[in-house]
Amino acid sequence: MERTLVLIKPDGVARNLVGEILTRIERKGLRIVAMELRTLDEGTAKTHYEEHASRPFFPSLVEFITSGPLIAMVLEGERSVEAFRALAGATDPVAAGPGTIRGDFALEVQANLVHGSDSTYSAEREIKLFFPDLG
Ligand code: PPS
Repeated sequence: MERTLVLIKPDGVARNLVGEILTRIERKGLRIVAMELRTLDEGTAKTHYEEHASRPFFPSLVEFITSGPLIAMVLEGERSVEAFRALAGATDPVAAGPGTIRGDFALEVQANLVHGSDSTYSAEREIKLFFPDLG
């Protein structure tokens, strides 16, 4: 079974959208195998987004993701990386289709509610970072 790392970002928690987003994940048939509410420290945030370190928005991205509590979780299921990214919709919520999490509830590319690993390789790295004890 494939695993993916999903975050409900601080905007999703602040806007009380956790239940709505979890409902969509469960309805799809993805299984939650780990889940935690936590506030990221700067070091963990920088490691998580290390592939974007040279992008102009990197400092703002780190500030945003550390700005309040988020939900980190590991989902398991058939092609879960792709399945969750389809549920989330495009990175830019204005371009995300209706029926997707971002398409239905967000407008900004930074405050776009959720993160999902972009490949099985990233998923493995991100799961180790957030849940080092997960077997
Ligand atoms: S992009 O636009 O192709 O770089 O998109 P992507 O690689 O998926 O984006 C990676 C994460 O960076 C965030 N992002 C931004 N934040 C602030 N400002 C701008 N302009 C911006 N562009 C992208 C975006 O929300 C992605 O976060 P995650 O958590 O990976 O979805």
